[in-house]
Amino acid sequence: MGKVSAAMIKKKMERVHKRMPFVPEESPTIRQPRSMKDRQQLWLLAGLKHLKAPIVIATLVNLVFAVPGLSWEPLDHLETFAGQMEATKAEWSEGRNAIPLDVTYNPSTMDFTSPVGFANALYHAMRLKPGASATTAPVCSTFVFMSKGSTLRSKTNPLGRPDSEACKIGNLLAARAIVLCLVCAAKGVFWCLEQPGTSCMEYHPVFQALVRIVRVHRLRMKMGDFGAPSPKSTLLYSSHQCIDDILWHTTGPAQRGSPVQMVKHYVDSKGKPRVCGGRDLKQSQAYPAGFASALSRVRTAHLKKNHRTAVKFLRAARKTPNSFDMRPRVNSLWSKHADLDSAIKFLSLGK
Ligand SMILES: C[S@@+](CC[C@H](N)C(=O)[O-])C[C@H]1O[C@@H](n2cnc3c(N)ncnc32)[C@H](O)[C@@H]1O
Repeated sequence: MGKVSAAMIKKKMERVHKRMPFVPEESPTIRQPRSMKDRQQLWLLAGLKHLKAPIVIATLVNLVFAVPGLSWEPLDHLETFAGQMEATKAEWSEGRNAIPLDVTYNPSTMDFTSPVGFANALYHAMRLKPGASATTAPVCSTFVFMSKGSTLRSKTNPLGRPDSEACKIGNLLAARAIVLCLVCAAKGVFWCLEQPGTSCMEYHPVFQALVRIVRVHRLRMKMGDFGAPSPKSTLLYSSHQCIDDILWHTTGPAQRGSPVQMVKHYVDSKGKPRVCGGRDLKQSQAYPAGFASALSRVRTAHLKKNHRTAVKFLRAARKTPNSFDMRPRVNSLWSKHADLDSAIKFLSLGK
């Protein structure tokens, strides 16, 4: 695996910033053969139809296809909520074409809570190659056990406190990340959604709606096995069973340094024992390079097979009669939680 230098990251990121078509000011116009867009549209809509996806998702992607001047050049990998972009760097070093998105790189084009940021993420997910790959790590801070006391989230109350702004943002980001997973599934993309081991995101109504449409594999592993300084139990949700192969590429724990503090135990003023996040919790959200490289190696090993399976799926999908899910209850669930109305309004009216 080749090393990704700082200069290479800088150059690649300059290109990524140029390729955010939904910039608030203007959109770049790119010349390309029309057939490329037609092929992407044919595949994606056939896949969504075959999965019996809600019609509102098909409407949304069609609005992106209707935007003139977008490049539909196929993409190998998309990393959303990318942070330190380790998964992207590992893909780049395998020689693949990858895009990382995170609000910290550009708040005006990459904030998923905004229609612009969501449209950009959707557009890149839509141009992934059949059988390509995607990694997402939606913000987990309000979904984990540690914040349960303030969020009141649980298996039976996965959306948490309705008056909490942090819960509302967490819910929206999770729902939008899951919309991207569904779009990926429609092209046979090998997607992986990562959450800490105590997260209750899988009980979010949109996550449950996704599970009713596509098969989702769940793997519990430890980041400590891939070089993280603490064990950090982690859940990986994926479209592909081969995600399990990541366990063949463990690297072992990091070199022992000073002890890490993920959790702090204390007794409050009323004498009640409490826990809260320790000083090293925030840093632990970044993937250790060993994990990103293991993920990338699994993708490389299964690349040909996943591409063949995706093509077979899309061939069958093209023959499926129109079978989008038209039920109002299902469509309004996706629309409400992922705020698709604001994205549809932005894509149709430009505001
Ligand atoms: C759980 S961390 C993922 C960390 C990442 N896996 C890494 O290796 O660094 C969530 C990421 O979501 C980003 N984020 C938070 N709010 C966001 C938003 N509204 N839109 C896009 N990204 C956001 C944060 O900047 C953070 O990097």
